[in-house]
Amino acid sequence: MSNSIFVKNAAQVITMQGHTDKPAKKEAMQQLSIVENGSVLAQDGEIIAVGTEAEIKNNYPDVVRNAKEIHATGKIVTPGLIDPHTHLVHAGTREIEYAMRLKGKTYMDIMHAGGGIHATTEATQKAGFEQLYQTSKKRLDTFLLHGVTTVEAKSGYGLTTEHELKQLEVAQQLNKDHVIDIVSTFMGAHAIPIAEKDQPEKFVDKVIDEMLPEVAKRNLAVFNDVFCERGVFTPEQSKRILEAGKQYGLIPKIHADEIEPYGGAELAAEVGAISADHLLKASEIGMTKMAENDVVGVLLPGTAFFLMAAFADARKMIDNGVAVALSTDANPGSSPTLSLQFIMNLGCLKMGMTPEEVLMATTINAAHAINCAKEVGSLEVGKKADITIFDVPNYLTLSYQYGMNHVDTVIKNGEIVVE
Ligand code: NIG
Ligand code: FE
Repeated sequence: MSNSIFVKNAAQVITMQGHTDKPAKKEAMQQLSIVENGSVLAQDGEIIAVGTEAEIKNNYPDVVRNAKEIHATGKIVTPGLIDPHTHLVHAGTREIEYAMRLKGKTYMDIMHAGGGIHATTEATQKAGFEQLYQTSKKRLDTFLLHGVTTVEAKSGYGLTTEHELKQLEVAQQLNKDHVIDIVSTFMGAHAIPIAEKDQPEKFVDKVIDEMLPEVAKRNLAVFNDVFCERGVFTPEQSKRILEAGKQYGLIPKIHADEIEPYGGAELAAEVGAISADHLLKASEIGMTKMAENDVVGVLLPGTAFFLMAAFADARKMIDNGVAVALSTDANPGSSPTLSLQFIMNLGCLKMGMTPEEVLMATTINAAHAINCAKEVGSLEVGKKADITIFDVPNYLTLSYQYGMNHVDTVIKNGEIVVE
């Protein structure tokens, strides 16, 4: 079997090159590097050349001769898409709550009445490893079919040490078994369990003293995330949890300012978070602080769409210098979708982003949001050969023909995994 692959003569190869050290910000988010009639050559799972067919043939005649060829004429080639915020591992669905919300109940009302995150927690606690593994694997298969080759996955539906570890162990096993790369986040502070709701500080102590050390000892996560929101975790509690995680080398992330302005964006800057996510209600000061401290803003327009809320102000964030990434927030309550392409459509149509910006936001900037930009996120020599081919004649069509799966072929680590 050939260990090299030659993607030939695409209408456009969109490389995202030049942003490996720092995410793209402001005008740079609009400046795509495009090779018209471009080709990509990969060997042993790594990209070794990007350019025109003639250039590559000239420089690597032997590799090209032995390579498996993929004709991409009339199609576009991008880095494999990256989803930097998912609640991949969970059990159960919440379509009944969806119907309740359509009749006027709010997301927070449902959660405080014992539904919402608590309902999914109950289902996830009851589910065994194998059930969680199989349902999450199926979600990964769908992500892959939609062009995604790396996802972040959070815990947070266990809410006890045992069940948080179970969720993270499922993600760890899937990372070994599935072609998609999974980067894990511990999110023990996703909600205060109903039985402990009168003693929130005690639960915070449990997250810090019991859960974090176990997660770190077993090497089950890279990031530590908190749902900082009125009625969930206060900025003070969030700070304690995130600072404690840092002692174990876990990098902070925050679900920030989703339902109301609550200082989440500011806190992200203060604790040195790699990203602040949601940000529908982030203050202008918060945005400025994020920009100054290189906190990536991970925007999740699927959540605003599905909760029928006002969208995050992506335009203002980008114009204020925040590096923006986009994600599905895939979860059963606030964003039950696995289509990052639809999220790109929403980025353009509902958050004032340009087609260029949404591509940056789902590739190299998404890679920065999960600290893996050295390996993935762009088509550059030395990076992993994670490549998505879309059956559209130019990149504008990706966000123009919306709500559809445009994927033609997906290559992961230099192997064809979807065709
Ligand atoms: O990112 N906001 C908090 N957590 C998830 C939703 C979880 C759920 O509703 O199950 C989110 O939107
Ligand atoms: Fe989330």
